[in-house]
Amino acid sequence: MKNILRKIENNIKKQVLMPLNSHNWDHTERVVKLALHIARKEKADAFIVKIAALLHDIGRRKEDKTNGKIDHAKYGAKLARKILKKYKLKTEIIDKIAHCIEAHRFRGNIKPETKEAKCLYDADKLDSIGAVGIGRAFLFAGEVGAKLHNKDIDIKKTKPYTKEDTAYREYMVKLRYIKSKMLTNEGRRIAISRDAIMRDFFIRFIKEIKGVI
Ligand SMILES: [Fe+2]
Ligand SMILES: [Fe+2]
Repeated sequence: MKNILRKIENNIKKQVLMPLNSHNWDHTERVVKLALHIARKEKADAFIVKIAALLHDIGRRKEDKTNGKIDHAKYGAKLARKILKKYKLKTEIIDKIAHCIEAHRFRGNIKPETKEAKCLYDADKLDSIGAVGIGRAFLFAGEVGAKLHNKDIDIKKTKPYTKEDTAYREYMVKLRYIKSKMLTNEGRRIAISRDAIMRDFFIRFIKEIKGVI
């Protein structure tokens, strides 16, 4: 099993490397660590969780290239099936891994049904909040050419992957809700402190933008 894991890790690293740094391999590495930590606490199958975490964003490049038109979770699950067949894993295991990948997306319509899928979902979402989440939100905004802040804009009328896709927009439309979407007890526990630091940051950010502190 360890051998398979090493082979998969080495082979997919190149395929997961993204043009956008906010979703690059270091994001995958953080998600693997968090997912394994949650899996231990939740008594989930660590082998399935690790492979799913390694492969979870393999479809991301396609989604970025199509400006969000292709769902990287569904596409990634298909790609993962193809890759995993080469390693002669049992169909039952491949199915479980593919389910984790297809269900990991926050806005996706496939919901995580297994313990393993819930561990990956929580780990991936946790990486978008907290101190790392703040950093990634600004990194992503820079990558799509957004400004530091758009003060005169109605967020409801803005679109993702555009110049209006600022870090604050991402916080308002998505990141502030993540804490309440956690699916495991350990995920919820970690999300509480990550959410608090992010909320305090954006409250202060807006005050500084207004020049009041
Ligand atoms: Fe993803
Ligand atoms: Fe991810």
